[in-house]
Amino acid sequence: MEGMLDSRLREVITRVGTYDWCVTEFVRVTNQRLPSRCFMRAAPELAHGAQTVAGTPVRVQLLGSDPACLAANAAFLATLKPAGIDLNFGCPAPQVNRHRGGAVLLNEPELLHTIAREVSAAIAGRVAFTAKMRLGVSDTAKALEAAQSLAEGGAQLLVVHARTKADGYRPPAYWEWVGRVAEVVQVPVVANGEIWTLQDYLRCRAQSGRSDVMLGRGALADPFLAQRIRDHLAGATARPPGGDWPRVVPLLLAYWQAVRRELEPRHAPGRLKQWLNLLQRHYLPAAVLFRQIRALADAGEIDGHLAALARAHALAQPV
Ligand SMILES: Cc1cc2nc3c(=O)[nH]c(=O)nc-3n(C[C@H](O)[C@H](O)[C@H](O)COP(=O)(O)O)c2cc1C
Repeated sequence: MEGMLDSRLREVITRVGTYDWCVTEFVRVTNQRLPSRCFMRAAPELAHGAQTVAGTPVRVQLLGSDPACLAANAAFLATLKPAGIDLNFGCPAPQVNRHRGGAVLLNEPELLHTIAREVSAAIAGRVAFTAKMRLGVSDTAKALEAAQSLAEGGAQLLVVHARTKADGYRPPAYWEWVGRVAEVVQVPVVANGEIWTLQDYLRCRAQSGRSDVMLGRGALADPFLAQRIRDHLAGATARPPGGDWPRVVPLLLAYWQAVRRELEPRHAPGRLKQWLNLLQRHYLPAAVLFRQIRALADAGEIDGHLAALARAHALAQPV
């Protein structure tokens, strides 16, 4: 998730989440073969076997519209041995769409096919090749054709964010459409969108007929959501997230520590606020902390708040 789920947060979240794999923020491909530092910046895990410290495989996502250029970058990226290469046809951001990137290409199934075919040929089976799509630009008229184009072009798995670009991030997600997509392609289809709780997962599974899901914001709002789902599937009794705040605190402190170590002080607060903003959905203390630091732009002042949090939980000071 661009601007949010960077390597630092991936590291913290995959420590507790039991994920099959995760995906980087997108790397924008326009008209040149990018140098390796661009891929390493998006995926520092490439230097460590393309895994997070916890061992979760990391796939790298590309976003672009030029088949030859995407193929050239995918071919090079494959030599860096990511756990997979994913193509983004879901981003709704106007500045991305203006340059013919992301969800806007869903109106052009033939182009999707060409991109998938050329990227697949360039990767030549060296790493997994997946694609992420929405249901369309302004409506779902081309959803099935777009999915077929990607799958027949060579994408080995599709993640379907069950909304159109026009829907943005507004609920609901139209999970039944994920099932419709799965009926017309020969590759695995993973459901995505608006899964915040175990109950959402169960509803999504019932409506889409898919048991595999990709978690987005829900995994940040409740870092134990993936585990909660797995536990339920294994027959364990599910607990509501609120009681897990003491288990969230060390993650939050570890994240702040990493952000403070690696980012300029002026960029650190925004990162923490974004995560707290999602955490407050389930955790009341996160809402309190968010209110306390919301107006602070000074990382030093935020250090003080997190040091107090660490003391309250008898944990090592974060910085
Ligand atoms: C801030 C933000 C950044 C995102 N960046 C990406 C991205 O780089 N690549 C991608 O495939 N999806 C991206 N997404 C979309 C999510 O991966 C996911 O598909 C979407 O939020 C729906 O799932 P959710 O309701 O579980 O969050 C982003 C979403 C948000 C909110």
